[in-house]
Amino acid sequence: MTGAFENTIFDDPILNVIHLLNSIAQENPQAISLASGRPDDQQCDPALIDKGLAHYKHHVAGTEQSLATLLCQYGKTSGIINETIATYLQVDEGITVSNPESIVVCLGFQEACTLTLLSIFEGGGVLLVPDPVFSGITGIAKLLGIKIVPVPMAAFLDPIALRKIVEALESRGEKIKALYAVPDFSNPTADSLSYHARTAMLALAREKDFFILEDTAYRYFRYEGAAIASMKSIDSSRVFLLGSFAKSIFPGLRMGYVVAPQGPGVMSFNTRLCKAKSLITVNTPALCQAVVAGVLIENDYSLKGLNRPRVLSYTNKRNHMLECLEREFPLKAGVQGSVSWNHPTGGFFINVQLPFVFGEAEMRECAQQFKVIVFPTTLFSLTNEAANQVRLSFSNATASDVTQAISRFRAYVESRRQ
Ligand SMILES: Cc1ncc(COP(=O)(O)O)c(C=O)c1O
Repeated sequence: MTGAFENTIFDDPILNVIHLLNSIAQENPQAISLASGRPDDQQCDPALIDKGLAHYKHHVAGTEQSLATLLCQYGKTSGIINETIATYLQVDEGITVSNPESIVVCLGFQEACTLTLLSIFEGGGVLLVPDPVFSGITGIAKLLGIKIVPVPMAAFLDPIALRKIVEALESRGEKIKALYAVPDFSNPTADSLSYHARTAMLALAREKDFFILEDTAYRYFRYEGAAIASMKSIDSSRVFLLGSFAKSIFPGLRMGYVVAPQGPGVMSFNTRLCKAKSLITVNTPALCQAVVAGVLIENDYSLKGLNRPRVLSYTNKRNHMLECLEREFPLKAGVQGSVSWNHPTGGFFINVQLPFVFGEAEMRECAQQFKVIVFPTTLFSLTNEAANQVRLSFSNATASDVTQAISRFRAYVESRRQ
């Protein structure tokens, strides 16, 4: 191999996380996997495809549009279901999209964030991310050559600490162009921003002239407490809303969207987003858009009802995993060397704090010798944060698998203590 292809950005471990999440289970077929944050197989209903399409066809029949052109031709770059998504955002989130053309329908969150980064970062600038953070954002930002500044999660959640970091960067001459946040139940740590932290972050963005990339992938999956307003609904002018239907309908559709900032005097990003999209994916597959629109129309433009049974099921799954942890690792408060974990109020993950470092080598050892796959939280970090943590996903494992998996994990932890 020529030197030009060695030690490049493609060798960066962050670019390998999604592949590793998908491949580790295949490499260890006898192991129970708590690694991947897939939605529950039981909740992925193929009947939604036929039903969605039928509702969409019925909807189009009531208009002057041609179904053949809509479904079979090259489509409009920004999408063919923008108005339906705008109505849905109004109904479920109280977000008013005054111009549906400020929505670009995308192939999942992943394309939405790629287009958004491309439209913002020409000519440099800094992207702030919490750390640890979903590698979908850091991986693509690295691939695009964007300078990323990781902010330890505790500081990210604390408006005073975050302001200090932003001001320190500014005083070093750095131009912060955007900040990425998952305000509801982040991946990997299931952290959320309080209402106060959301409004403070928006005020900071206005004051320091940067954008917020709001990822709402897990927003429906709250198991306790009252919902907190999305950042886009509080102030649209500073927020790119990056939406995904991967968890709220199902991921095989690869459907998501970006809603650009809106408001008086706010620059329109739609042309930039669409130019980038026209050269990357041309348009989002019409069939997938039709299914999503049909599902939304059938459900009166709300996904709350569709997700209610899912939320109940995930709540039970979370509770069961917490019970298994309590049984296998009886808490010895304050005792050195004990194992502890968070109590997520939503999302798909529990993070466990171990009395030792847990990285990729340990994950492989645990999978091969103890037949359970748990994912090192630190693989989502750019700074070796969370070196002692593992992310356990409860979304797609059965109760009996979780019972067995946590028991096997206890055996692994005991072997490390000896
Ligand atoms: C934080 C976060 N955002 C977004 C997504 C969904 O991305 P996509 O719509 O590309 O499947 C995921 C999926 O794992 C995620 O964890």
